[in-house]
Amino acid sequence: MEKIVSLAKRRGFVFPSSEIYGGFGSCYDFGPLGVEMKNNIKKAWWDEMLKKHEDIVGLDAAILMSPKVWQASGHLTAGFADELVECKKCHHRFRLDEIQNSQCLECGGELIKSRKFNLMMKTFVGSVENEATLTYLRAETCQGIYVNFKNVLQTMRLKIPFGIAQIGKAFRNEITPKDFIYRTREFEQMELQWFCAPKTADKFFDYWKKERINWYLNLGIKKADLRVKEVPKNELPHYAKRALDIEYKFPFGWKEIEGVHNRGDWDLSNHSRNSGEDLKYEGYFPYIIETSVGVDRSLFAFLCDAYIEVSGGRTKTTKATKEVETMLKFHKSLAPIKVAVLPLVKNKPAIIKKAEEVYQILKPHFNCQYDETDSIGRRYRRQDEIGTVFCLTIDFESLEKNDLTIRNRDTMKQERVKIKNIKECLEKLL
Ligand code: GAP
Repeated sequence: MEKIVSLAKRRGFVFPSSEIYGGFGSCYDFGPLGVEMKNNIKKAWWDEMLKKHEDIVGLDAAILMSPKVWQASGHLTAGFADELVECKKCHHRFRLDEIQNSQCLECGGELIKSRKFNLMMKTFVGSVENEATLTYLRAETCQGIYVNFKNVLQTMRLKIPFGIAQIGKAFRNEITPKDFIYRTREFEQMELQWFCAPKTADKFFDYWKKERINWYLNLGIKKADLRVKEVPKNELPHYAKRALDIEYKFPFGWKEIEGVHNRGDWDLSNHSRNSGEDLKYEGYFPYIIETSVGVDRSLFAFLCDAYIEVSGGRTKTTKATKEVETMLKFHKSLAPIKVAVLPLVKNKPAIIKKAEEVYQILKPHFNCQYDETDSIGRRYRRQDEIGTVFCLTIDFESLEKNDLTIRNRDTMKQERVKIKNIKECLEKLL
């Protein structure tokens, strides 16, 4: 875990928020490589939902909504609160489910009885701060989908069953954010809400469970690192009739990365009752099967799963034989950098010139890096460490033959390709 966190920082994936001021309450910023990877994850999810299926449409609702939404959804009442205990001595707060015995995990002090702590983040809209202007940052993106159910249904002339997909920020005032970007107070969710007839809900629940597991497997997550846990009745979220967690084997244990929920008619019937708007379809409230995953949390899982260490000098440089080499074996569609262009040596202007030409050809089409410092072995290792899929090397032979070598990250096989064909070649491979 320490190695992955340090690599994430060192190589520009994730930085602590407001770091020059000492950081800020478990918020994180995504660096140049992190944002590329996040975009790749979001694209993979969006394409999966909207391109693979005919009956799913997208939405981008506002983060700020009427507080009535949160009243109706049950998030302001007991439903969306964690049990909290507080240390008498150091006043540290913990979630009740994290406590093994009645002692403080920080100082060993005595813990005061539990109480409920609501996780909604408060804010004020307008120039006056009072009850009338109080609202909340959304704690789950899907509420924006439910309140737009009728708008989408009518404008897109849809028939049940159909889905609405959305990606966006969500906020929770978590009592104990922890484990790097696993649990944070600001995060991004990718949620599908699938509206269906009540009697088909079980069938679709099973369908979406399979679809979602396959999504991870197709993006390279190892089968042995994934499992599904049915949520027991007494632990169900307040809106769910049935729920399961897709769990990933993180370095700190098996943890949820995605939830699949049968929300029944909880949301549409509550919003109907509270808003006065009839949200029925052909006389009944559709049931909702939901799949919900954090972008940040899944990025963390993809990062952990891709991380490997190889000893014995994979790249066969003189120094490397003694060192452990680190690699991120990302799926090619998730890798933040697809191609690195590397002139073999730095002191031959003709080689540098050709390498720059290749870089300019590829840069508009692929996420590319150009690197001419250090030995070629070191540069390969630097690229392996961030999971770059292909390294292109321009050498002395390239000057005569107008070609280059393309090196595959995983097999380390090198092949010569004509420069005039390299763009097409990469398009095929990627
Ligand atoms: N709309 C349903 C819903 O929000 P959830 O189980 O509370 O369900 C779904 O959250 C997913 O959102 C989680 O599996 C996780 O990937 C992500 N998530 C939730 N809380 C998070 C947090 N504090 N930090 C990072 N990701 C979080």
